[in-house]
Amino acid sequence: MAKLPRNPQERSCLAIVLAAGEGTRMKSALPKPLHKIAGTSMLAHVLNAVSASGATHYAIVVGPNGDRLADEAHRIVPKGEIFVQTERLGTAHAVLAARDCLERHKTNDIVIAFADTPLIGAATLEKLRAPLQDGVAVAVLGFETDDPAGYGRLIVENGRLLAIREQKDANAAEQHIRFCNAGLMALRGDVALAILEQIGNDNAKKEYYLTDAVAVAVAMGETAIAVEAPEREVLGINDREQLAEAEAVLQETLRRVAMENGVTLVDPKSVFLSTDTRLGRDIVIEPNVFFGPGVVVEDDVVIHACSHLEGAHLQKGVHAGPFARLRPGTIIGPGAKVGNFVEIKNTILHEGVKVGHLTYLGDAEIGAETNIGAGTITCNYDGWSKFKTVIGAYAFIGSNTSLVAPVTVGAGAYIGSGSTITDNVPADALAIGRGRQVTKEERAKQIRAKRGKKNGH
Ligand code: UD1
Ligand code: CA
Repeated sequence: MAKLPRNPQERSCLAIVLAAGEGTRMKSALPKPLHKIAGTSMLAHVLNAVSASGATHYAIVVGPNGDRLADEAHRIVPKGEIFVQTERLGTAHAVLAARDCLERHKTNDIVIAFADTPLIGAATLEKLRAPLQDGVAVAVLGFETDDPAGYGRLIVENGRLLAIREQKDANAAEQHIRFCNAGLMALRGDVALAILEQIGNDNAKKEYYLTDAVAVAVAMGETAIAVEAPEREVLGINDREQLAEAEAVLQETLRRVAMENGVTLVDPKSVFLSTDTRLGRDIVIEPNVFFGPGVVVEDDVVIHACSHLEGAHLQKGVHAGPFARLRPGTIIGPGAKVGNFVEIKNTILHEGVKVGHLTYLGDAEIGAETNIGAGTITCNYDGWSKFKTVIGAYAFIGSNTSLVAPVTVGAGAYIGSGSTITDNVPADALAIGRGRQVTKEERAKQIRAKRGKKNGH
């Protein structure tokens, strides 16, 4: 027999990801694998992990209305093949929905992962596959837990895995076993189909259990083993409480990695990151800050308390918040300052811009060192379309200005407070767009005399 490569990364591997099933306990119109953890769907988490562990082919098994699952799968692995399991008859039945893929590719290894076990890491998947190259036919991922309820129990003797017993089929002694099936499994490619075809449905749920692959392989004279994984990587998500548990586990990891890389989190537990949040060094993040997807933060940035960021890029030395809302398409240039109760969307702030207080900037570009006064609003939407506001460098926008887009304010221009700007303002001009003040001497006193006292005056 030709010697197989030792490194899992050098062997061909078909990853079969099971994403069918109703997920009824989620009580949701959204298919369970599309629920998100740290901004990324469970399905994407699993596909990213199998891809990083060296999968060369992908089969994703979805239920009858799986279009959205197929779209999400293709976003991560464009060459992934989609298979439909028309009836939910069990995990082994689901794997066989991808039978065509198994037969066609004849890969060295098969890895089966569940879309509802999203925290699995690539290194653990490689560890699971490794024994296959030593002739093991079935490797099952197991974990020790204090709370085995609901999980299949691993029946191990002398280092060999003999069977997996589902909770509903386990006898009293087996119920006490705390070494459980994580659901993930690796099968040697040359025997995988022969094993899967022999699995029957003679059990409490009348389902074709993938877990029976172990007993079938053993009966065929093949070897099965269990590979232990940390419990936190193999949390199975069946309901929203478990979804929140997985979120907490992943957030802990993301925060730890951020701190290891030079980010100060004043109160780590109150900062929520996305899997794709990119943070530089010497960043300080105060309590209660939320990062949606697509945020990039460069070195020396300070994000003050209670800020919400999504799809925003903060360049070196920016200060943002407290209470800043930075939405997709926001680019904040080096050293710029964004203060409290400021919302910014699809807007570029060049170097050194100051937007201190109570402002909305949408679909705008603001030149370097310009000062935006308190209460400035870009009126970017007329009910039908969005329009752009362009402000040059070194301009000064007085407090409580409405900029009715499309409108341009030239470099060095000055806008008087309380203006409504509807026409373009040339560079270095002063523009004031407001009603003139009228002051009538003694008039207040006269009104009081006529109408009587109010509030003690
Ligand atoms: C499964 C395992 C159990 C293990 C647990 C770990 C089996 C029989 N049981 O139980 O030993 O401890 O996971 O979380 O494998 N699916 C399909 N089609 C089906 C049935 C399921 O695609 O016909 C998919 C589901 O979408 C899910 C995965 O397979 O992603 C697991 O199914 P689920 O019903 O959640 O199995 P558990 O009861 O959790
Ligand atoms: Ca499950």
